[in-house]
Amino acid sequence: MKLIIDTDPGIDDAMAIAYAAAAPEIELIGLTTVFGNTHVHQSSRNARFLLDKLGIDAPVAEGAPVAQGADTHAPSEHVHGPEGFGDVTDIPQIGSNHSLSAAEYLVEMARVHKGELVVCAVGPLTNIAAALRLDPEFAQNIARLVIMGGAVYCPGNITPHAEANIYHDPLAADEVFANPPTTVVVGLDVTLRTLYEGADFDGLAEQSADMGGFLRDISKFYLKFYKDVGGLEGCGLHDSTAVIACTHADMFTMVETGLQVVADGPEIGLTRPDPSRPVVHVCCDVDGAGVVDLFTQRVASLP
Ligand code: BDR
Ligand code: CA
Repeated sequence: MKLIIDTDPGIDDAMAIAYAAAAPEIELIGLTTVFGNTHVHQSSRNARFLLDKLGIDAPVAEGAPVAQGADTHAPSEHVHGPEGFGDVTDIPQIGSNHSLSAAEYLVEMARVHKGELVVCAVGPLTNIAAALRLDPEFAQNIARLVIMGGAVYCPGNITPHAEANIYHDPLAADEVFANPPTTVVVGLDVTLRTLYEGADFDGLAEQSADMGGFLRDISKFYLKFYKDVGGLEGCGLHDSTAVIACTHADMFTMVETGLQVVADGPEIGLTRPDPSRPVVHVCCDVDGAGVVDLFTQRVASLP
């Protein structure tokens, strides 16, 4: 399966990219980057670093620096650290970005790989909304869009109502849900049932010294956030769960509903069912232990 991950790496983004590199069903043809966990130039640097570390020769196309209609953005430093990788801050600049913007690259790849390309968006949906606007055929050209975002039937994480990716650009998210391609929504409803604990990272590092060791090192900061803020012993495999949903839909239970995003007020960023909207497939249950095992099995095979 040909895959582009639209990402803001980001600790769990790095895990998802490592998983995609290790999964035999996935051909990772490129990454597009967006603001979110970090500033977009940090997302791009981190994405290029990860591809190099994984030995993948694929482009990184840089996307939106801020949300649609907004001119400010504060990265989630308290969650992902000052450079996106927790306490690891000496991340080298490797190579350079693709000449196309993220939206242009997505549109181009969707044309070239018409009907075959899956786009997995694991950051704010700004680039996806831009691609849908740029090419009216983009929605039909991609096989499907799989989104890590939203908290449809459960509380949010960045506010009591909103999940972080949707909260960071509610207008873009609402634009996508108003006129969606074939879409699967992998929100907190399922990603908080795939907790990865410190001992899991230690086991991963034993088997995969380089990549697993790197993920263990960057995760310490993330695990501390989950413990301090949520009292949880592990972190959600948010973005990895979305990548796994691209190839293992049978591990998920989905409901069909339209979605609307609250664009202002105290509930800004809330994703709520809206029967008047086109249907998307919302994951409401998951084989969480199966996702954790699959992640470990695949990533452990990396050097
Ligand atoms: C999502 O927000 C980001 O912090 C993570 O990388 C993930 O994509 C979880 O709400
Ligand atoms: Ca992310």
